[in-house]
Amino acid sequence: MNEKKIREILRKYYALDMHYEDGRILGSMYTSIPPIVVEIFQKFYQANLGNESLYPGTKQLERKVVKYLFRLASAQGKGFYGHILSGGTEANIVALWAARNFGYKRILATADAHFSIRKAANLLNIPLVEVKMDKGKMNTEDLERKLSDGDAIVATAGTTPLGLVDPIEDIGKICLDHDCFLHVDAAFGGFVLPFLKELGYIKVKFGFDIPAVRTVTIDPHKMGMAPYPAGSLLSRGNIFEKITTDAPYLLKEKNYTLLGTRQSGSVAASYSAILYFGWAGYRRIVKKCMENTLYGKKRFEEEGYEILVEPEMNILNIKFQNVKKIKRELIKRGWGVSINPSYSSMRIVFMPHVTTSVVENLLRDLKNIEKS
Ligand SMILES: Cc1ncc(COP(=O)(O)O)c(C=O)c1O
Repeated sequence: MNEKKIREILRKYYALDMHYEDGRILGSMYTSIPPIVVEIFQKFYQANLGNESLYPGTKQLERKVVKYLFRLASAQGKGFYGHILSGGTEANIVALWAARNFGYKRILATADAHFSIRKAANLLNIPLVEVKMDKGKMNTEDLERKLSDGDAIVATAGTTPLGLVDPIEDIGKICLDHDCFLHVDAAFGGFVLPFLKELGYIKVKFGFDIPAVRTVTIDPHKMGMAPYPAGSLLSRGNIFEKITTDAPYLLKEKNYTLLGTRQSGSVAASYSAILYFGWAGYRRIVKKCMENTLYGKKRFEEEGYEILVEPEMNILNIKFQNVKKIKRELIKRGWGVSINPSYSSMRIVFMPHVTTSVVENLLRDLKNIEKS
Protein backbone atom coordinates (compact mmCIF):
# COMPACT_ATOMS: atom_id res chain seq x y z
CA MET A 1 0.00 0.00 0.00
CA ASN A 2 1.39 3.43 -0.77
CA GLU A 3 2.15 5.98 1.96
CA LYS A 4 -0.65 8.32 0.91
CA LYS A 5 -3.26 5.59 1.26
CA ILE A 6 -1.84 4.49 4.63
CA ARG A 7 -2.03 8.09 5.92
CA GLU A 8 -5.60 8.35 4.67
CA ILE A 9 -6.63 5.22 6.55
CA LEU A 10 -4.88 6.25 9.75
CA ARG A 11 -6.25 9.80 9.62
CA LYS A 12 -9.76 8.49 10.19
CA TYR A 13 -8.71 6.74 13.38
CA TYR A 14 -6.70 9.76 14.54
CA ALA A 15 -9.84 11.85 14.17
CA LEU A 16 -11.69 9.50 16.54
CA ASP A 17 -9.20 10.15 19.35
CA MET A 18 -9.25 13.15 21.66
CA HIS A 19 -6.26 15.52 21.52
CA TYR A 20 -5.02 17.94 24.15
CA GLU A 21 -4.93 20.85 21.70
CA ASP A 22 -8.73 20.64 21.37
CA GLY A 23 -9.09 21.87 24.97
CA ARG A 24 -11.65 19.19 25.89
CA ILE A 25 -9.52 16.86 28.04
CA LEU A 26 -10.08 17.88 31.66
CA GLY A 27 -8.92 14.98 33.79
CA SER A 28 -5.63 13.92 32.32
CA MET A 29 -2.16 14.55 33.78
CA TYR A 30 -0.63 14.81 30.34
CA THR A 31 -0.57 17.57 27.75
CA SER A 32 0.76 18.33 24.28
CA ILE A 33 4.51 18.78 24.09
CA PRO A 34 6.78 21.03 22.01
CA PRO A 35 7.64 19.87 18.45
CA ILE A 36 11.37 19.61 19.26
CA VAL A 37 10.59 17.11 22.02
CA VAL A 38 8.46 15.04 19.61
CA GLU A 39 11.26 15.25 17.03
CA ILE A 40 13.81 13.88 19.51
CA PHE A 41 11.38 11.15 20.56
CA GLN A 42 11.12 10.03 16.92
CA LYS A 43 14.88 10.28 16.41
CA PHE A 44 15.56 7.92 19.33
CA TYR A 45 12.54 5.68 18.81
CA GLN A 46 14.71 2.53 18.47
CA ALA A 47 16.42 2.96 21.83
CA ASN A 48 15.70 0.21 24.32
CA LEU A 49 17.32 0.51 27.74
CA GLY A 50 16.13 -3.01 28.49
CA ASN A 51 19.31 -3.95 26.60
CA GLU A 52 21.30 -0.87 27.55
CA SER A 53 24.69 -1.93 26.17
CA LEU A 54 23.38 -1.36 22.65
CA TYR A 55 22.41 2.21 23.51
CA PRO A 56 25.27 3.82 25.48
CA GLY A 57 24.19 7.27 24.25
CA THR A 58 20.66 6.89 25.55
CA LYS A 59 22.07 5.39 28.77
CA GLN A 60 24.07 8.59 29.28
CA LEU A 61 20.90 10.59 28.70
CA GLU A 62 19.08 8.51 31.31
CA ARG A 63 21.78 9.48 33.83
CA LYS A 64 21.37 13.14 32.92
CA VAL A 65 17.58 13.02 33.32
CA VAL A 66 17.90 11.15 36.61
CA LYS A 67 20.38 13.77 37.83
CA TYR A 68 17.81 16.47 37.10
CA LEU A 69 15.14 14.48 38.92
CA PHE A 70 17.48 14.21 41.94
CA ARG A 71 17.42 18.00 42.10
CA LEU A 72 13.61 18.00 42.06
CA ALA A 73 13.61 15.40 44.83
CA SER A 74 16.21 17.28 46.94
CA ALA A 75 18.75 14.44 46.73
CA GLN A 76 22.10 15.91 47.74
CA GLY A 77 25.45 14.20 47.67
CA LYS A 78 26.24 10.61 46.78
CA GLY A 79 24.41 7.35 47.30
CA PHE A 80 21.31 8.00 45.21
CA TYR A 81 20.21 5.81 42.31
CA GLY A 82 17.50 6.07 39.70
CA HIS A 83 16.02 4.72 36.51
CA ILE A 84 13.61 6.05 33.94
CA LEU A 85 10.70 3.64 33.85
CA SER A 86 7.49 3.44 31.89
CA GLY A 87 5.45 5.56 34.30
CA GLY A 88 4.22 6.00 37.84
CA THR A 89 2.63 2.57 37.93
CA GLU A 90 5.86 0.75 37.14
CA ALA A 91 7.83 2.98 39.52
CA ASN A 92 5.44 2.32 42.41
CA ILE A 93 5.44 -1.41 41.72
CA VAL A 94 9.25 -1.53 41.54
CA ALA A 95 9.61 0.42 44.82
CA LEU A 96 7.28 -1.96 46.64
CA TRP A 97 8.78 -5.00 44.93
CA ALA A 98 12.19 -3.98 46.29
CA ALA A 99 10.63 -3.28 49.72
CA ARG A 100 9.09 -6.77 49.71
CA ASN A 101 12.48 -8.28 48.80
CA PHE A 102 14.11 -6.36 51.67
CA GLY A 103 11.63 -8.21 53.89
CA TYR A 104 8.93 -5.56 54.45
CA LYS A 105 5.68 -7.40 54.88
CA ARG A 106 2.74 -4.98 54.61
CA ILE A 107 1.88 -1.79 52.74
CA LEU A 108 0.21 1.12 54.56
CA ALA A 109 -1.47 3.71 52.37
CA THR A 110 -4.61 5.84 52.21
CA ALA A 111 -7.62 5.23 49.96
CA ASP A 112 -6.45 8.19 47.85
CA ALA A 113 -3.08 6.58 47.04
CA HIS A 114 -2.94 5.79 43.33
CA PHE A 115 -4.51 2.49 42.27
CA SER A 116 -1.06 1.22 41.25
CA ILE A 117 -0.42 0.70 44.98
CA ARG A 118 -3.37 -1.71 45.16
CA LYS A 119 -2.04 -3.34 42.00
CA ALA A 120 1.41 -3.71 43.60
CA ALA A 121 -0.04 -5.23 46.78
CA ASN A 122 -2.01 -7.69 44.70
CA LEU A 123 0.92 -8.63 42.43
CA LEU A 124 3.38 -8.93 45.30
CA ASN A 125 0.88 -10.75 47.45
CA ILE A 126 1.37 -8.48 50.46
CA PRO A 127 -1.47 -7.13 52.60
CA LEU A 128 -2.52 -3.52 52.08
CA VAL A 129 -3.61 -1.71 55.24
CA GLU A 130 -5.70 1.40 54.70
CA VAL A 131 -4.72 4.44 56.76
CA LYS A 132 -7.51 6.95 57.46
CA MET A 133 -7.45 10.44 55.99
CA ASP A 134 -8.23 13.92 57.26
CA LYS A 135 -9.76 15.82 54.37
CA GLY A 136 -7.81 13.88 51.74
CA LYS A 137 -4.46 13.62 53.60
CA MET A 138 -2.99 10.77 55.59
CA ASN A 139 -4.01 10.90 59.27
CA THR A 140 -0.75 10.45 61.14
CA GLU A 141 -2.44 9.33 64.38
CA ASP A 142 -4.10 6.46 62.56
CA LEU A 143 -0.74 5.71 60.90
CA GLU A 144 0.97 5.51 64.30
CA ARG A 145 -1.78 3.20 65.59
CA LYS A 146 -1.47 0.83 62.65
CA LEU A 147 2.28 0.93 61.97
CA SER A 148 4.53 -2.00 62.96
CA ASP A 149 8.18 -2.75 62.32
CA GLY A 150 8.53 -4.31 58.89
CA ASP A 151 5.91 -2.13 57.17
CA ALA A 152 6.22 -0.15 53.96
CA ILE A 153 4.41 3.20 53.93
CA VAL A 154 3.30 4.93 50.76
CA ALA A 155 2.82 8.69 51.08
CA THR A 156 1.64 10.77 48.15
CA ALA A 157 2.90 14.18 47.09
CA GLY A 158 0.05 15.25 44.85
CA THR A 159 -2.78 12.77 45.26
CA THR A 160 -4.51 11.71 42.07
CA PRO A 161 -8.06 12.66 43.14
CA LEU A 162 -7.46 15.94 45.00
CA GLY A 163 -3.86 16.98 44.31
CA LEU A 164 -3.02 17.15 48.03
CA VAL A 165 0.26 16.40 49.78
CA ASP A 166 0.30 13.92 52.65
CA PRO A 167 2.14 15.23 55.77
CA ILE A 168 5.34 13.54 54.64
CA GLU A 169 7.67 15.23 57.14
CA ASP A 170 5.52 13.99 60.05
CA ILE A 171 5.22 10.56 58.44
CA GLY A 172 9.01 10.53 58.08
CA LYS A 173 9.45 11.27 61.81
CA ILE A 174 7.09 8.44 62.75
CA CYS A 175 8.95 6.17 60.37
CA LEU A 176 12.31 6.85 62.06
CA ASP A 177 10.99 5.23 65.26
CA HIS A 178 10.29 1.99 63.41
CA ASP A 179 11.99 -0.30 60.95
CA CYS A 180 9.92 0.74 57.97
CA PHE A 181 10.30 1.61 54.31
CA LEU A 182 8.93 5.01 53.22
CA HIS A 183 8.03 5.41 49.56
CA VAL A 184 6.84 8.79 48.26
CA ASP A 185 4.66 8.82 45.18
CA ALA A 186 5.37 12.22 43.63
CA ALA A 187 4.46 11.02 40.13
CA PHE A 188 2.51 14.24 39.61
CA GLY A 189 3.87 16.49 42.35
CA GLY A 190 7.55 15.97 41.57
CA PHE A 191 7.53 18.45 38.71
CA VAL A 192 5.11 20.82 40.51
CA LEU A 193 6.00 21.17 44.20
CA PRO A 194 9.60 22.42 43.84
CA PHE A 195 8.33 25.26 41.66
CA LEU A 196 5.26 26.00 43.79
CA LYS A 197 7.69 26.31 46.70
CA GLU A 198 9.86 28.81 44.82
CA LEU A 199 6.73 30.72 43.83
CA GLY A 200 5.64 30.89 47.48
CA TYR A 201 2.43 28.86 47.11
CA ILE A 202 3.39 25.98 49.40
CA LYS A 203 6.06 25.11 51.96
CA VAL A 204 6.18 21.33 52.19
CA LYS A 205 9.07 18.93 51.83
CA PHE A 206 8.43 15.69 49.99
CA GLY A 207 11.78 14.23 48.93
CA PHE A 208 15.13 13.02 50.19
CA ASP A 209 15.54 16.07 52.43
CA ILE A 210 13.30 14.02 54.73
CA PRO A 211 15.73 11.47 56.23
CA ALA A 212 13.31 8.52 56.30
CA VAL A 213 12.38 8.76 52.61
CA ARG A 214 13.80 5.75 50.83
CA THR A 215 12.27 5.97 47.33
CA VAL A 216 10.52 8.62 45.26
CA THR A 217 8.45 8.30 42.08
CA ILE A 218 8.53 11.31 39.71
CA ASP A 219 7.04 11.16 36.22
CA PRO A 220 8.58 13.27 33.45
CA HIS A 221 5.56 12.33 31.31
CA LYS A 222 3.21 14.30 33.55
CA MET A 223 4.26 17.88 34.42
CA GLY A 224 7.75 17.29 32.96
CA MET A 225 6.29 17.78 29.46
CA ALA A 226 7.88 14.57 28.17
CA PRO A 227 6.16 12.00 25.94
CA TYR A 228 5.10 8.76 27.55
CA PRO A 229 6.47 6.31 28.57
CA ALA A 230 8.60 8.32 31.00
CA GLY A 231 8.29 7.74 34.73
CA SER A 232 11.10 7.37 37.21
CA LEU A 233 12.03 5.73 40.44
CA LEU A 234 14.75 7.35 42.57
CA SER A 235 16.24 5.70 45.63
CA ARG A 236 18.45 6.35 48.61
CA GLY A 237 20.90 3.48 48.35
CA ASN A 238 20.64 1.04 45.48
CA ILE A 239 17.26 -0.63 45.87
CA PHE A 240 17.47 -1.84 42.25
CA GLU A 241 19.95 -4.52 43.36
CA LYS A 242 17.06 -6.15 45.18
CA ILE A 243 15.09 -6.72 41.99
CA THR A 244 17.90 -7.36 39.49
CA THR A 245 17.18 -10.42 37.39
CA ASP A 246 19.61 -12.57 35.40
CA ALA A 247 19.01 -12.13 31.67
CA PRO A 248 21.72 -14.21 29.98
CA TYR A 249 20.84 -13.32 26.39
CA LEU A 250 21.30 -9.59 26.96
CA LEU A 251 24.72 -8.00 26.52
CA LYS A 252 24.90 -7.05 30.21
CA GLU A 253 23.24 -10.34 31.21
CA LYS A 254 21.15 -8.47 33.79
CA ASN A 255 17.83 -6.65 33.87
CA TYR A 256 17.33 -3.93 36.49
CA THR A 257 13.67 -2.94 36.21
CA LEU A 258 10.24 -4.53 35.77
CA LEU A 259 9.92 -4.30 31.99
CA GLY A 260 12.21 -6.07 29.56
CA THR A 261 12.22 -4.12 26.34
CA ARG A 262 11.41 -0.52 27.18
CA GLN A 263 10.70 2.31 24.80
CA SER A 264 13.52 4.74 25.54
CA GLY A 265 13.00 7.40 22.91
CA SER A 266 11.13 9.04 25.78
CA VAL A 267 14.38 9.16 27.79
CA ALA A 268 16.07 11.27 25.11
CA ALA A 269 12.86 13.29 24.73
CA SER A 270 12.71 13.90 28.50
CA TYR A 271 16.20 15.33 28.36
CA SER A 272 15.28 17.52 25.40
CA ALA A 273 12.27 18.84 27.40
CA ILE A 274 14.61 19.62 30.31
CA LEU A 275 16.90 21.54 27.94
CA TYR A 276 14.00 23.26 26.21
CA PHE A 277 12.22 24.53 29.31
CA GLY A 278 15.00 24.78 31.86
CA TRP A 279 14.21 25.32 35.54
CA ALA A 280 12.74 28.78 34.87
CA GLY A 281 10.57 27.42 32.05
CA TYR A 282 9.07 24.71 34.26
CA ARG A 283 8.45 27.31 36.96
CA ARG A 284 6.60 29.48 34.41
CA ILE A 285 4.43 26.52 33.39
CA VAL A 286 3.59 25.71 37.01
CA LYS A 287 2.81 29.37 37.71
CA LYS A 288 0.41 29.57 34.77
CA CYS A 289 -1.26 26.26 35.66
CA MET A 290 -1.74 27.42 39.26
CA GLU A 291 -3.11 30.79 38.16
CA ASN A 292 -5.58 29.00 35.87
CA THR A 293 -6.57 26.68 38.75
CA LEU A 294 -7.35 29.69 40.95
CA TYR A 295 -9.18 31.35 38.07
CA GLY A 296 -11.28 28.16 37.75
CA LYS A 297 -11.98 28.15 41.48
CA LYS A 298 -13.09 31.78 41.41
CA ARG A 299 -15.30 31.35 38.33
CA PHE A 300 -17.00 28.17 39.58
CA GLU A 301 -17.70 29.87 42.91
CA GLU A 302 -19.05 32.95 41.17
CA GLU A 303 -21.44 30.70 39.24
CA GLY A 304 -22.67 29.14 42.48
CA TYR A 305 -20.76 25.85 42.48
CA GLU A 306 -19.11 24.41 45.58
CA ILE A 307 -15.37 23.73 45.57
CA LEU A 308 -14.60 20.53 47.48
CA VAL A 309 -11.23 21.50 48.91
CA GLU A 310 -8.83 24.42 48.61
CA PRO A 311 -6.42 23.36 45.83
CA GLU A 312 -2.79 22.88 46.86
CA MET A 313 -1.71 22.16 43.32
CA ASN A 314 -3.20 22.45 39.85
CA ILE A 315 -6.09 20.07 40.53
CA LEU A 316 -9.56 21.44 41.27
CA ASN A 317 -12.63 19.53 42.45
CA ILE A 318 -16.18 20.79 42.00
CA LYS A 319 -18.98 19.18 43.98
CA PHE A 320 -22.13 17.92 42.24
CA GLN A 321 -25.15 16.21 43.74
CA ASN A 322 -25.33 13.77 40.85
CA VAL A 323 -21.79 13.68 39.53
CA LYS A 324 -22.36 10.57 37.40
CA LYS A 325 -25.13 12.35 35.49
CA ILE A 326 -22.85 15.37 34.96
CA LYS A 327 -20.17 13.02 33.64
CA ARG A 328 -22.61 11.38 31.19
CA GLU A 329 -23.88 14.73 29.94
CA LEU A 330 -20.42 16.23 29.52
CA ILE A 331 -19.20 13.16 27.63
CA LYS A 332 -22.19 13.57 25.27
CA ARG A 333 -20.98 17.14 24.65
CA GLY A 334 -17.47 15.98 23.78
CA TRP A 335 -15.61 16.51 27.06
CA GLY A 336 -12.96 14.17 28.43
CA VAL A 337 -14.08 14.30 32.06
CA SER A 338 -12.86 12.74 35.26
CA ILE A 339 -14.85 12.33 38.46
CA ASN A 340 -14.17 11.28 42.04
CA PRO A 341 -17.29 9.25 42.90
CA SER A 342 -16.30 8.94 46.57
CA TYR A 343 -16.21 12.74 46.89
CA SER A 344 -19.12 13.32 44.47
CA SER A 345 -16.90 15.74 42.60
CA MET A 346 -15.64 16.46 39.13
CA ARG A 347 -11.89 16.72 38.95
CA ILE A 348 -10.10 19.13 36.65
CA VAL A 349 -6.35 18.80 36.22
CA PHE A 350 -5.13 22.21 35.14
CA MET A 351 -2.51 21.09 32.66
CA PRO A 352 -1.28 23.79 30.23
CA HIS A 353 -4.04 22.99 27.72
CA VAL A 354 -6.74 23.73 30.35
CA THR A 355 -6.86 27.49 29.90
CA THR A 356 -9.27 30.15 31.14
CA SER A 357 -11.30 29.84 27.92
CA VAL A 358 -11.63 26.07 28.52
CA VAL A 359 -13.11 26.98 31.94
CA GLU A 360 -15.59 29.36 30.30
CA ASN A 361 -16.60 26.75 27.66
CA LEU A 362 -17.12 24.21 30.40
CA LEU A 363 -19.23 26.58 32.49
CA ARG A 364 -21.40 27.30 29.44
CA ASP A 365 -22.02 23.58 28.87
CA LEU A 366 -22.75 23.00 32.56
CA LYS A 367 -25.37 25.77 32.44
CA ASN A 368 -26.94 24.09 29.38
CA ILE A 369 -27.01 20.77 31.21
CA GLU A 370 -28.78 22.39 34.16
CA LYS A 371 -31.41 23.86 31.81
CA SER A 372 -32.01 20.57 29.97
C1 LIG B 1 0.03 10.01 42.16
C2 LIG B 1 0.09 9.09 41.00
N1 LIG B 1 0.88 8.01 41.05
C3 LIG B 1 0.99 7.14 40.04
C4 LIG B 1 0.27 7.32 38.88
C5 LIG B 1 0.38 6.32 37.77
O1 LIG B 1 1.09 6.85 36.72
P1 LIG B 1 1.07 6.19 35.26
O2 LIG B 1 -0.31 6.39 34.73
O3 LIG B 1 2.11 6.95 34.54
O4 LIG B 1 1.40 4.76 35.41
C6 LIG B 1 -0.58 8.43 38.76
C7 LIG B 1 -1.36 8.64 37.55
O5 LIG B 1 -2.17 9.48 37.42
C8 LIG B 1 -0.67 9.33 39.85
O6 LIG B 1 -1.48 10.39 39.82
